[in-house]
Amino acid sequence: MRRVLGSVDGYSNDFGKFAGRIGLGVGQDPGGLGFADPPVHTRLRKALTPEFTMRRLARLQPRIDAIVAGRLDAMAAGDGTADLWHDFALPIPALTICELLGVPYADRDYFQQLSTSRFDLGGGAGVSLDAIGTSLSYLGGLITEQRRHPGDGLLGSLIRAHGDEIDDRELAGLADGVLTGGLETSASMLALGALVLMTNPAMAGRMRDGDGVDQMVEELLRYLTVVQVAFPRVAIHDVRVGDADIRAGDVVMCSLSGADRDVLLGADPHRIDPSRTPDRSHLAFGYGIHRCIGAELARMELRTAYPALVRRFPAMSPAVPPTELTFRPASIVFGLESLPVTLGEAA
Ligand code: HEM
Repeated sequence: MRRVLGSVDGYSNDFGKFAGRIGLGVGQDPGGLGFADPPVHTRLRKALTPEFTMRRLARLQPRIDAIVAGRLDAMAAGDGTADLWHDFALPIPALTICELLGVPYADRDYFQQLSTSRFDLGGGAGVSLDAIGTSLSYLGGLITEQRRHPGDGLLGSLIRAHGDEIDDRELAGLADGVLTGGLETSASMLALGALVLMTNPAMAGRMRDGDGVDQMVEELLRYLTVVQVAFPRVAIHDVRVGDADIRAGDVVMCSLSGADRDVLLGADPHRIDPSRTPDRSHLAFGYGIHRCIGAELARMELRTAYPALVRRFPAMSPAVPPTELTFRPASIVFGLESLPVTLGEAA
């Protein structure tokens, strides 16, 4: 897996190379980093990287704390039940990305709605790409506004530093990539992670005590691996990988969820083990030049939200039996459609 994902000249991520093979037009290219090869990818990623350094992200921590506290307060003020997907898991990354990008407060509800349908492959790839198209046009408007008055967020700072080298379409693609990359992924991790904690009281107890939070977050990332496959790659040459002969032009899909259940990551990989200390890191954030640029931001959200949730609602439990939970039928991002819970006494 690492050989494929880490190869710079063996495979291409260029949208134009495989669009036709899956019935899409080149005009439907969503832009961003995931569907670009060097040197375009290198140039765009270099512009975006300074926005994701630990130092730059640290300024978001107080906002993430406040966003999480706001959601917990709203749930505590309700009738003792909640849908953790809608009330907790989705708003936390959506509001965090609004902070990161510099989306105006008035637009935040609309922004959240834009993001929900895009990962649903139930209607075919075309429907998701239409949702991406709507989002790109919203972001286009935001970019026009930020070109006039660059704000403090990622868009304003990209425009100040690289406004002449990056055109509006590329900027919209980058912003959309951040939205696509950072919303449902973190939301699914929050909802599924909360479900794991509700069914694993020992782990929830450790999370509540702040005992090994970072390690448990890594184990949840490995165990759940919500981004099930990496971006599609097209083989540039004929190549043999493991037992498979791949021809130049073949589309190669790498199963990250499969890789993260490898015994290389420790014994009994199908079991969640809060004390797991693997020699190799998991592939939940991918590997190679397309490795997730938002990994540290995602970790900040998860490390903040899980302990806060189990501290505020220590007796929270699923309101329906596990067999009645609805998982998304076909989606790139593994996740729940809703997570009804009974909150129990709030602490
Ligand atoms: C738990 C949450 C997250 C998971 C599991 C996740 C997973 C991934 C994976 C697996 C890839 C790489 C796919 C490949 O190699 O083909 C990726 C790429 C990416 N992610 Fe994330 N991600 C998460 C959160 C975020 C956040 C919070 C952001 C930004 C705010 C983000 C932005 C991106 C971008 C822009 C890329 C494309 C990078 C490139 O092509 O150079 N992700 N993510």
